[in-house]
Amino acid sequence: MATNHYYGRDVVSIRDFTKDELEFLFSFTDRISTLSRIERSELGKGITLGSIYYEPSTRTRMSFEAAITSIGGSSIGIADPKSSSIEKGESLSDTIRIMDLYSDVLVLRHPLDGSGRFASELSRHPVINAGSGSEEHPTQAMLDLYTIYKEKGRIDGLRIGIIGDLKYGRTIYSLVYGLSNYDVDIRLISPPTLSIRKESIYGVENKLKIQEYSNLPEDILSTLDVIYVTRIQKERFPDIQEYEKVKGTYTIDQSTLDKSKTDVSIMHPLPRLDEISHSIDNTTNATYFRQAANGKEIRAALLALITNEDPA
Ligand code: CP
Repeated sequence: MATNHYYGRDVVSIRDFTKDELEFLFSFTDRISTLSRIERSELGKGITLGSIYYEPSTRTRMSFEAAITSIGGSSIGIADPKSSSIEKGESLSDTIRIMDLYSDVLVLRHPLDGSGRFASELSRHPVINAGSGSEEHPTQAMLDLYTIYKEKGRIDGLRIGIIGDLKYGRTIYSLVYGLSNYDVDIRLISPPTLSIRKESIYGVENKLKIQEYSNLPEDILSTLDVIYVTRIQKERFPDIQEYEKVKGTYTIDQSTLDKSKTDVSIMHPLPRLDEISHSIDNTTNATYFRQAANGKEIRAALLALITNEDPA
């Protein structure tokens, strides 16, 4: 196996990883997906994953737990701050320090931008950022890039539409940073009040071809290889009335598919509200459940590489 650059490393931002490192993760994910259950359970034997979730999660938390179990490790964690001493007023830093004592690798989701970096500076063990405010969600982008690669056989040369809440959606920033390693054409579609934060893509926008729209023109829709849809992030709006103005702005449904490439991939980090109609769930274009399944595989590979210098 080539040198494992993930060993002992934090995953705070996808910007910390090169294209070669990302592709190494994708091939390692492919490789462990073919292992027998017994072979796979050797990869993380004896490893304890400690997780701390200050915000709700279904996919990230469950896929990390399924991932560590599948490689032979175990997990402990705080799924809800109300069930822990955080409720008694324990600080974030003390919570991290304590979980660090009991774990070999930590996963943190927190509403504050910068929380992942903060945790990585405090912890002796590697920290994986499972979502830091509106800033980043790097492992989501890893699984998103892996999904695009698996569905399309390549990432270079694709035209990718990203639609929805581009201001507050942390998955968007990690995805755009990850895509900046590739030769892709990105079309951003959002209400003007939810357009991408320019200051957050400073430094990568010159590596990408990006165009912005408030509505998706049909002549562009018909050229997209991937449509990546996001939920309007109600919980991040400082003013609920502003949310009421933009909720339900976009819906991907059969009429969208009728105007799209026949093999367009519809992706979504999930959870969805009404931005993708359930009526298209059984089409081959609906990629979002395969995408969620890839989350377990990518995270299993990542945990094996972070905790084991030479995991076969
Ligand atoms: N995609 C994602 O982060 O989902 P959860 O909030 O359910 O973890």
